[in-house]
Amino acid sequence: MAKRALITGITGQDGSYLAEHLLAEGYQVWGLVRGQANPRKSRISRLVSELHFVEGDLMDQVSLVSAVDFVQPDEVYNLAAISFVPMSWQQPELTTEVNGMGVLRVLEAVRMVCGLDKSRPTGGGGIRFYQASSSEMYGKVAETPQNEQTIFHPRSPYGVAKTYGHFITKNYRESFGMFGVSGILFNHESPRRGAEFVTRKITMAVAEIKLGMREKLYLGNLDAVRDWGFAGDYVRAMHLMLQQDTATDYVVGTGRMHSVRDAVQIAFDAVDLNWRDHVVVDPALVRPAEVETLCADPEKARAELGWKQSVDFEELMRMMVEADLRKASNEHKYSELMLAGSW
Ligand code: NAP
Ligand code: GDD
Repeated sequence: MAKRALITGITGQDGSYLAEHLLAEGYQVWGLVRGQANPRKSRISRLVSELHFVEGDLMDQVSLVSAVDFVQPDEVYNLAAISFVPMSWQQPELTTEVNGMGVLRVLEAVRMVCGLDKSRPTGGGGIRFYQASSSEMYGKVAETPQNEQTIFHPRSPYGVAKTYGHFITKNYRESFGMFGVSGILFNHESPRRGAEFVTRKITMAVAEIKLGMREKLYLGNLDAVRDWGFAGDYVRAMHLMLQQDTATDYVVGTGRMHSVRDAVQIAFDAVDLNWRDHVVVDPALVRPAEVETLCADPEKARAELGWKQSVDFEELMRMMVEADLRKASNEHKYSELMLAGSW
């Protein structure tokens, strides 16, 4: 019988790649979706006929118990979150509820459905659980590069809530013998990345500037440094973590550092434009507390999971620019045809 996976956050960037990966691995894939006639299924629209959906929300414990009970999954991937860091200063309580308490609610749903408790430890025999932890937990970094032992110093309500989610997952592993793992993933991007994140914001702007649709790109801190990889590579690591004999946490990243300025340079170079003619620094986009640098030490994931990335940063930025050029030029042609009255 095919293994069943339940993915929270299936409509997000990672959810869409993970769904594709698990379908290719022969899984029956279920996605937890929220809201009425969820309008944000566009990333997975071409997969809809192969996927199954169940309704639920990380804010609603009963809906999560019902969903897990209904699906009876072998593996649960908890990817749902408010994932845009600046939003966590605007809505800290909601962010904490979804990214912190939401993890506890999913763990409780798994525990209740499995009947996992001290008197009946099921260990690896229960539902396996993946938590989407984040390099944002390292925040004001204690050392470089960061590994599984590096202490956390989160710098945003997002990072603080993720740190709670990380430790409650570890605690359920230690308290109840649950097979719960956290992947401490560094930034990963793709043509499906949300438009608010810096790489996609840059590549969309580059495409539109190249096509003459706009002149300027407004950015915040150009000196911030990240370890950026390709999302399609990172979902393979999530799956591998749940196939191990023992539950433990892993850092996933490339081990390479680039600044926002580097990202800008590569993207503008890809279309033969000089970024200095177009990029404007807007102080309003600088964060109240910045994570200045992040760099992964992914040695454990490489050694124990056999994981490695297939796309480097330069290729990733060019892939995103090309995808946005195609998208913007289709929209441009469409609006020109509309204006010419020939559509
Ligand atoms: P994303 O594109 O922003 O997707 C977030 C997903 O969470 C969406 O499917 C959204 O559903 C869902 N969601 C939000 N609030 C929810 C709620 N209350 N109940 C149920 N679902 C809810 O994020 P991503 O980039 O794919 O990231 C996936 C996960 O990895 C997140 O937990 C993120 O924090 C974490 N992470 C990401 C990165 C990265 O670089 N991408 C790095 C480290 C960790 P709707 O469509 O309904 O809004
Ligand atoms: N979004 C954005 N917009 N970021 C900018 C801008 C801008 O105009 N200008 C400079 N930056 C800088 C930010 O200050 C930050 O240092 C860096 O670019 C990356 O910002 P984001 O792309 O928004 O990602 P993030 O690092 O804050 O968070 C992402 O990665 C985390 C893992 O480290 C998100 O995917 C999180 O959900 C994830 O946990």
